[in-house]
Amino acid sequence: MATTTCLLSSARCSAKHPINFKAHDLKTALASVVKPPTQKLKNPSLKVEAVKALKMVSTTILDTMVDFIFQFVDQPMIPSQKNFAPVEEIGELIKVDCFQGNIPEDFPEGVYIRNGSNPLFGGLKLAVSVFGKTDSLWIEGEGMLHALHFKKDEQGKWSFYYKNRYVETDTYKMESKRKKPAFLPIVEGDPLATLAASFFNVLRFGQEYKIMSNTNVFEHGGKHYSTAENYIPQEIDLISLETYGNWNPGRTWSRPLTSHPKKTPGTGELVTVGFEAKKPYCIVGIVSADGKELVHKLDLQLDQCSLFHDVGVTNKYTILVDFMLTLSPERVMKGGSLFKYEREKDARIAVIPRYGDADSIKWFHIEPCVS
Ligand SMILES: [Fe+2]
Repeated sequence: MATTTCLLSSARCSAKHPINFKAHDLKTALASVVKPPTQKLKNPSLKVEAVKALKMVSTTILDTMVDFIFQFVDQPMIPSQKNFAPVEEIGELIKVDCFQGNIPEDFPEGVYIRNGSNPLFGGLKLAVSVFGKTDSLWIEGEGMLHALHFKKDEQGKWSFYYKNRYVETDTYKMESKRKKPAFLPIVEGDPLATLAASFFNVLRFGQEYKIMSNTNVFEHGGKHYSTAENYIPQEIDLISLETYGNWNPGRTWSRPLTSHPKKTPGTGELVTVGFEAKKPYCIVGIVSADGKELVHKLDLQLDQCSLFHDVGVTNKYTILVDFMLTLSPERVMKGGSLFKYEREKDARIAVIPRYGDADSIKWFHIEPCVS
């Protein structure tokens, strides 16, 4: 029946995690600027309106500052990346008339979903400023779902229909409404420019980066999800391609969730992993078969943030590979990259009993396996 596809190899998987700017402190500082005048107002409704107006003014001032300091420029696409150039969102289901090849007799009806990044506003952007330049990685861009429907009539004649639609994440909706790029690229670039871009993203939107949701599509508990490494999954409808919103397993996950969770043989539970650049660095989670509860959480108790990209499962064990790609906001503050391969250290494999604790993890050291 439905076929879901992760077209992106591990190299494409995004893993952008928050640099720990103190967004709350910044917002508090901003709020303190607007507080005194509103405190003098006795009428509550007037006070609410005044706060709204002041927030709007502060937002406008920040937008104007960003527009003054940064300029968005189309990012050149190298020839090998042109297959990933964005396409238009067509919205409606259209009949596909051109067809080549043969369909096997026993091929089932259903829908094939292809997903990938499809940057808004004509392609990826870089931002130029007095601080230097920041670029987008080619894996970035809003997620788009492409659905190809296979339908067979009673005479056995096939018909094909196509539809595409953006995964409408919160940041997609916000940027679409603005009708222009808003988030500054932060993943690559000159250190000072990256720092400034991150600062303004956090100050304006409370987060450093956009939600991509462009890496994988999976099913769990009868529902379907689109996801990427840097956020929680988005529930989607495979037929209409509508986005229903964020999926936070058990409402207690509270961190990005791997794009590659695995369903366990037998129980049908979902094993997942999520990492952040602050402690606890890496959490393994087990979601109930119906998708409603987070039934187990395990802090791996790592002493550094390491990217555990994929998940393996057997009947009894969860298997993770730590190939020593670490994330460190401190490196960015010193002008380095957020990610670093710790080539001098062995890669390692963790074998964990399904509901085990940190003491039950068995580590097996292996030769570095990423070039
Ligand atoms: Fe991935």
